[in-house]
Amino acid sequence: MKIAFFDAKPYDKPSFDRYGAEYGVKFKYFETKLNEDTVELAHGFDGVCVFVNDTVNAFVIDRLVEMKVRVVALRCAGFNNVDMKYAFGKIHVLRVPAYSPYAVAEHAMAMLLTSIRRIHKAYIRTKDFNFSLAGMTGFDLHGKTVGVIGTGRIGRVFIDICLGFGMKVLAYDKFPTEGLDNGDTVRYVSLDELLSESDVISLHCPLTDQTYHMINEESLKSCKKGVVLINTSRGALVDAEALLAGIKSRQIGAACLDVYEEESEFFFEDFSGHIVEDDVLARLISMPNVLVTSHQAFLTEEALANIAQTTVTNLVGFFEDGRCQNELCYRCGNTEDCKNGKCF
Ligand code: NAI
Repeated sequence: MKIAFFDAKPYDKPSFDRYGAEYGVKFKYFETKLNEDTVELAHGFDGVCVFVNDTVNAFVIDRLVEMKVRVVALRCAGFNNVDMKYAFGKIHVLRVPAYSPYAVAEHAMAMLLTSIRRIHKAYIRTKDFNFSLAGMTGFDLHGKTVGVIGTGRIGRVFIDICLGFGMKVLAYDKFPTEGLDNGDTVRYVSLDELLSESDVISLHCPLTDQTYHMINEESLKSCKKGVVLINTSRGALVDAEALLAGIKSRQIGAACLDVYEEESEFFFEDFSGHIVEDDVLARLISMPNVLVTSHQAFLTEEALANIAQTTVTNLVGFFEDGRCQNELCYRCGNTEDCKNGKCF
């Protein structure tokens, strides 16, 4: 089978080539993202393989169907960039539900420690033989309260890491995990209580209509002054302009952002030497207490291997057996994989 692989990066190819060769799947790599302008490149392919910033909207879906492309294989977990309602009954959508929750949770903690212990500043200072400690004072995580929004695979690993640091955990989830609340170090609370009681807040829920801008002007006002916000989930969970205002007003102590609302234009690309037109992003990056990484949380060797292997076995399952357990199904609720693998 022939698959058009969009938004290809050098780090994608080794693992996809390896598993593709093993299972007989041929990938043609395109550096460009899939969108309305580039969809014609999919002509003659059986499927497309896409990532977080490719666009699979109604127009793209219609063109893919017209070109007899049968499947969209997401090589990520989130699927907010796919119009699932429109896709249902027209084209099959497969995803990689989990590849390494450790990669993302560990990156969230790495960002938190870097930010509050000023490691990014110390690295630059000592490279210049500046051994001054002025402005480097951080704070202990031990004994602090962390609010974890979304207690799925990644959120639960992040909770374990925080417990290792001696933190207290306040959790919020639309569908709480049974047995996680121990009435002591981990407690499920309302979103309002989490916001007002947490010293650190980390987002680990998906981007949906309900969670869009869940961190906004109002919610930021109800946070503790000096709160540290971590977002390794999806940019649009946070209203970036409200976040910037909160940082300017000193309401937010620090922000660790691996994702950004308008990231699709910038992230994964080299913009050094260019004038970045997005004033909010530029201003956020200019802040001494904002740390931005470029949607990098997933990027570990283990995660890349798992992504490639699952994507390839999804495609083989779909084309050879006619079913794939990682098919997203709008009828089954749009937030879960198809329960029986044959709704459409
Ligand atoms: P998961 O599906 O295991 O967990 C998500 C949790 O969010 C579930 O417990 C669900 O009940 C909860 N949730 C759903 N709607 C909610 C709402 N309205 N309010 C509160 N909680 C809600 O997903 P997983 O694997 O833990 O991933 C979480 C998110 O991390 C993904 O949706 C994706 O956006 C992001 N992600 C980011 C990566 C990166 O490289 N930065 C890599 C992988 C995932």
